[in-house]
Amino acid sequence: MTKTLNLITEYAGKIKPDSIEEYVSVGGFEALKIAMGKSPIESIEEIKKSKLQGRGGAAYPTGVKWEQAYQIQKNPKYIICNADEGEPGTFKDKVILDHLPLMLIEGMTIAAYILNSPKGFIYIRGEYPESQKIVARAIKAAKERGFLGSDILGTKFSFDIEIISGAGAYVCGENSALVESTEGNSGRPRMKPPFIKNHGYMGMPTLVNNVETFAYVPYILKEGGEKFASYGTEFSGGTKLVCLSGNLVNKGVFEVPFGITLRELIYDIGGGIPDGRKLKFVQLGGSSGPCIPEEMLDTKLCYKELKSKGLTLGSGAILVVDDSNCAVDFLKCVTEFFYHESCGKCTPCREGNKQLLALVNKFANGNATENDLQIIKKVGYIMKNAAFCGLGETAPTAHLSLIKYFEDEFVEHINKKCRANVCNFGGVEND
Ligand SMILES: Cc1cc2nc3c(=O)[nH]c(=O)nc-3n(C[C@H](O)[C@H](O)[C@H](O)COP(=O)(O)O)c2cc1C
Ligand code: SF4
Repeated sequence: MTKTLNLITEYAGKIKPDSIEEYVSVGGFEALKIAMGKSPIESIEEIKKSKLQGRGGAAYPTGVKWEQAYQIQKNPKYIICNADEGEPGTFKDKVILDHLPLMLIEGMTIAAYILNSPKGFIYIRGEYPESQKIVARAIKAAKERGFLGSDILGTKFSFDIEIISGAGAYVCGENSALVESTEGNSGRPRMKPPFIKNHGYMGMPTLVNNVETFAYVPYILKEGGEKFASYGTEFSGGTKLVCLSGNLVNKGVFEVPFGITLRELIYDIGGGIPDGRKLKFVQLGGSSGPCIPEEMLDTKLCYKELKSKGLTLGSGAILVVDDSNCAVDFLKCVTEFFYHESCGKCTPCREGNKQLLALVNKFANGNATENDLQIIKKVGYIMKNAAFCGLGETAPTAHLSLIKYFEDEFVEHINKKCRANVCNFGGVEND
């Protein structure tokens, strides 16, 4: 029995991404017409019923976010689609950008209609130049056929979308840094409050949502929020795009219903671990997410259940790591990433990542002490609680979870032993 469910990805790769005819032939832009025949509040209610939560990582309820944006009495309001997709192991927004850009445009246009917004932006990471071209062609086609631009579908409503290219900084995915960068400034997080919903692009109210979040909106308005919600769990509605990567037989992006277990994802959809090796751990949600052992794989994909176990799904990246890998060496890669990506604005993150890198290197080089494990925990705790933005807050998540579940491997490195034979301790032989 197949465990995937293609509510939004059914036509990915089957229709031309910039063909209005083909998109319309599979029901495209029907939801926009439905939204234009409803009051904004009715459309927002439908989204609330769907239990859709933002797919960018923080899982904020989308209907509530749109209701708050609607209630703000300040104009013009702007819409920004977050297509920065900088989280390592995450490549699901690219599927929508490359194969279903008209679905994204439709979702954004519905949001714009509800908020009476004249202008939107799609902030696409600089590493996706081809996606930028595909989305640009789709925007042009939608404008030529009256689904975007002036007087949409013969009404007085006008909405335009501009593409902004990122330049490779992971922090620009954080919503206030995203707004700064969209304005043409250096992409650094802003002090909050004021929040982006009130004081975003050019000081005006701004709705920021992830690509995948916008892409669900046409389905929800066409089929109804309750139907969408019925595919998930009591607390997490509908489906989620997950990115399976690492030591797996089947890698890629899969649309799955909430409620599926991590074990089903890895063994039934992912095909299990190749070459007869054993699973060591799974990192959930990208480099900023926790690393969990095999014993936790019966956890269901559900924001509430994950939270109850101290876990997060983040962007939907699921990285499988087998026993040929070393936990310390893996952590070195994660730490190098955050050390490189810290924007340097606040001390806990700027200095904390530097300290974490020095400490993890001590383990990888075989010159760490027991006390260094305690210092990693202390630095991680400070970063989690004192960093200015989510980057610094989540940078030590892998450290804290790996030390929690794989402390013995760290202790072995103190004694210059690497069970995966990956670390060479400056020429000292492993046994
Ligand atoms: C360091 C950092 C990087 C982020 N990167 C992304 C990203 O690439 N894409 C994204 O949609 N959200 C990203 N987010 C989350 C956004 O700040 C924001 O919550 C999200 O875009 C809101 O959309 P949603 O409600 O649809 O999830 C990031 C957050 C942080 C702290
Ligand atoms: S936590 Fe890191 S990325 Fe965020 S503001 Fe501080 S230094 Fe910059």
